[in-house]
Amino acid sequence: LRETISKPLIIILIMSKATRRKVLRLLTYGLYIITTRLNDQVHAGLISWLSQASFNPPLIMVAIRSESKLYSLINESRVFAVNILSADQKDVASAFFSIKEVKNKMINGYLYEEGEKTGSPILIDLPAWFECRVIGQLDKGDHTVFLAEVVNSGLRKEIDKPLILWDTGWHYGG
Ligand SMILES: Cc1cc2nc3c(=O)[nH]c(=O)nc-3n(C[C@H](O)[C@H](O)[C@H](O)COP(=O)(O)O)c2cc1C
Repeated sequence: LRETISKPLIIILIMSKATRRKVLRLLTYGLYIITTRLNDQVHAGLISWLSQASFNPPLIMVAIRSESKLYSLINESRVFAVNILSADQKDVASAFFSIKEVKNKMINGYLYEEGEKTGSPILIDLPAWFECRVIGQLDKGDHTVFLAEVVNSGLRKEIDKPLILWDTGWHYGG
């Protein structure tokens, strides 16, 4: 392919890819810990590609990397919980970069209880959460988009501001 494309064209292609990356990184996101349970397997992941998708019924959409353990468990359990972090919980978010230990109702040392409607882990140190049931999915790119109904929610503590990706200095996208 390189032989058939001229040098200036290659440079333009590289530049447009760099621009697309920069532009897509200007999208704004929250940061959430998604949890799921399939029988005795409990798992969690730090997720940013999530949005509300309908008022009535209350739907959300989330993109989960198709090669992840989180994807394969949600794909089978068809349920998950979204745990919302407050602005001062960046340290909690970073503890969920990878899951190293699940035992004694704790994920990486963070206690959870089981959600009433789905059995998904609800992290008790986080101020707000909701449980979801998957109603559809799109398996197209390297992430799968799940469409899910919010079937239960809870607020442990009123907070001024949730944690947002932009304020962490981390990136996921581009
Ligand atoms: C800032 C940040 C944002 C992330 N956002 C997403 C996301 O939206 N979707 C996703 O599938 N993974 C996302 N990840 C990756 C997951 O946190 C995690 O790597 C993945 O679930 C782990 O794979 P596993 O389930 O196989 O353990 C993000 C990671 C970071 C650090």
